[in-house]
Amino acid sequence: MKAGIGTCDLESDILTKNRGNYDWAANESWRLAVYDPVHEGWHFTNIGGRYVLDYIGRLTNLDGGMELLELGCGMADTCRYLVEHYSCRVTGVEMNQRQIETARARLAKAPPGVGERLRLIHADLRVWQPDRLYDLVYAIDSLMLIPDLGKMLDKGRSALRPGGTLVIADVIAGPGCTDRLRQQVWDLDGIITLETSEQYRTLLVQFGFADIRIKDLTELGIRCFTTIACAARRLAAHTNEPSARTSWEKWLEVALFYERCFRERQLLYSRISASADRPTG
Ligand SMILES: C[S@@+](CC[C@H](N)C(=O)[O-])C[C@H]1O[C@@H](n2cnc3c(N)ncnc32)[C@H](O)[C@@H]1O
Repeated sequence: MKAGIGTCDLESDILTKNRGNYDWAANESWRLAVYDPVHEGWHFTNIGGRYVLDYIGRLTNLDGGMELLELGCGMADTCRYLVEHYSCRVTGVEMNQRQIETARARLAKAPPGVGERLRLIHADLRVWQPDRLYDLVYAIDSLMLIPDLGKMLDKGRSALRPGGTLVIADVIAGPGCTDRLRQQVWDLDGIITLETSEQYRTLLVQFGFADIRIKDLTELGIRCFTTIACAARRLAAHTNEPSARTSWEKWLEVALFYERCFRERQLLYSRISASADRPTG
């Protein structure tokens, strides 16, 4: 349990926050504030976008026909991007019902051949068990929402073939991270896991990973939230409807909050990769 975050009804809080934050991720406001300005229309609810996906894609291109697993795939545009741009098959696991429904509807309109190489599973990763082994397991901006990072790394490890690769892109704790900030990001976005890069490294070794590489992508985080802030400011200025203006002002406030956290290195955005070098158990 993170300092500052109360224990009562944690389970129902996690589910309520998940629904509150992600049930609406297909909405027009997300498109205008995030998907169009940050991700060129792709429905990525993440910071790393194509920068992280192309890194993963380049790993898959080394060996055509690789099997990938995404932990917390949202509307699965991340999976679809990889399937469309690289020669791989992807399974995405997602707990939010609406996101899965949206993913399935969007997939039905995907170019021919994409659907056959993309499998969606509606499940909570905390209880889900893999039914096969993968060459690469990745998680983009999802592990921060799941308590017990060790358990998730163990799950990722158990889904990997020997020598397989894990890639994580996520918000992590920077040197200036405080208990107050942990409480704020939990309240705002349900972020419950904020480890430092050294804590990640220790846990990865503990769960059988080697060749651990951690790359600081905080500049990408700053750029992402600067772009969202610009879009929200412009949208607020161009609307006369009071409740819509209030909503854009809220987007602006939140974007400026994260931009500042990244600039002050209270939060960092990192890409972490590792290989599964030892048998589990
Ligand atoms: C910030 S979004 C990122 C989605 C996607 N990876 C992307 O980059 O567009 C995080 C996703 O993780 C999902 N998630 C959180 N906890 C989960 C869990 N325990 N099991 C499965 N999915 C989970 C959320 O519902 C949400 O869709």
